[in-house]
Amino acid sequence: MTHIDFPTLENRPVKVLFVCLGNICRSPAAEGIMRHIVEENGDSRDWVIDSAGTGGYHIGQLPDNRMRIHARRRGLELTHRCRQVNPEDFYRFDLIIPMDASNESNLRRLSPTTETDAKIIPMARFVDMALRYDYIPDPYYEGAEGFELVLDLLENGCANLYHAVKSIISQ
Ligand code: 4NP
Repeated sequence: MTHIDFPTLENRPVKVLFVCLGNICRSPAAEGIMRHIVEENGDSRDWVIDSAGTGGYHIGQLPDNRMRIHARRRGLELTHRCRQVNPEDFYRFDLIIPMDASNESNLRRLSPTTETDAKIIPMARFVDMALRYDYIPDPYYEGAEGFELVLDLLENGCANLYHAVKSIISQ
């Protein structure tokens, strides 16, 4: 992980929103992984974790069955209900984490102010360079290995995100 400029994180809980296109594969998986890490560390009181999609194709649905099955094999139950990003998210959340460049440019287009622009940090910035991915690839049209790859990248990135934020908020 190279240096990341975080926005000021003044309030507790810290509120993190993961964003992808459909909000049925990558971002609900990131939400579930992050919540698991936070719970394992006994830190639930200090975090609010949610996810949303830039698209509105699957609103109200549970995550994609394939993602739920692959996540369950790793001990994660994904129960998020799909929702679309809305303008208030830019004020409510402290960190807004897109999965790929397309999600990021959609968010930057919707972002109302320079302060809210600063909350947008791509997920791949938190993924170890050694894994050689500068985005989280959309698994929707892929096979099982696509879902496993997403979960591997997200487990690594969420652990790094957790430790980076933790070191800021415990200063
Ligand atoms: P996600 O994957 O962005 O990781 O949730 C997708 C899910 C659905 C669609 C695209 C991507 N879709 O076009 O319906």
